[in-house]
Amino acid sequence: MKKQNFITLTGYREFDLTKMEKRSIEFLEELSRRRTVRDFSAHPVPQNIIENCIKTAATAPSGANMQPWHFIVVADPKIKKEIKIAAEKEEKEFYSKRAPKEWLDALKPLGTNENKPFLETAPYLIVIFSKSYDLSSDGKKIKQYYSIESTGIACGMLITAIHHAGLVSLTHTPSPMKFLNKILNRPENEKPFLLLVVGYPSADAMVPNIKKKKFEEITSFF
Ligand SMILES: Cc1cc2nc3c(=O)[nH]c(=O)nc-3n(C[C@H](O)[C@H](O)[C@H](O)COP(=O)(O)O)c2cc1C
Repeated sequence: MKKQNFITLTGYREFDLTKMEKRSIEFLEELSRRRTVRDFSAHPVPQNIIENCIKTAATAPSGANMQPWHFIVVADPKIKKEIKIAAEKEEKEFYSKRAPKEWLDALKPLGTNENKPFLETAPYLIVIFSKSYDLSSDGKKIKQYYSIESTGIACGMLITAIHHAGLVSLTHTPSPMKFLNKILNRPENEKPFLLLVVGYPSADAMVPNIKKKKFEEITSFF
């Protein structure tokens, strides 16, 4: 019997095994070149590229297809400045008071501190909010399922799309991030999830010399 409200799977493409292997290696090589960048150029990026990357993120799977996310794209210099001031205030508290020594030690190799010039330099800040519940048109609460996991997957796809387009990003989490609700006028049911800084790297951009764990260390087969 035909299932109600189902359509034929048309998007899937099958490849022979040689092509499959080639594609998997090429994608691995492309993503292995991704780095978190903290030195941004002010070189402008057309908005439609950012829109395409967000549309890619929005193809992500989500618990019960709730799509519990909202993406805010900030290009306005005044709002970027406001975000920078608020983030640096939180980060100053974090680095000087709130962060335990163990956390600061873990951050040492990255050379980060409370100064966040990139929040003004980079052409775009994409702030991703995750919905703890949604609201129907008549104001009823709609439960969301696995909203953190779902938003995390969408963010991973967004970072991948940005890299694939030839741009760089910084996953930034000024702690705590509640100030983003106020500045961006987002409702109580949306929690700031990540602040993604997006643009071109500066000509002299440097990245920390850190390594990924070995495949054998992170994978087990049964
Ligand atoms: C959830 C999350 C939060 C992060 N928060 C920050 C941050 O606030 N500031 C920062 O400079 N980097 C931040 N990063 C970037 C990490 O430091 C970076 O991904 C890690 O050092 C590995 O480097 P790579 O992305 O170049 O492989 C964050 C990354 C993730 C996934």
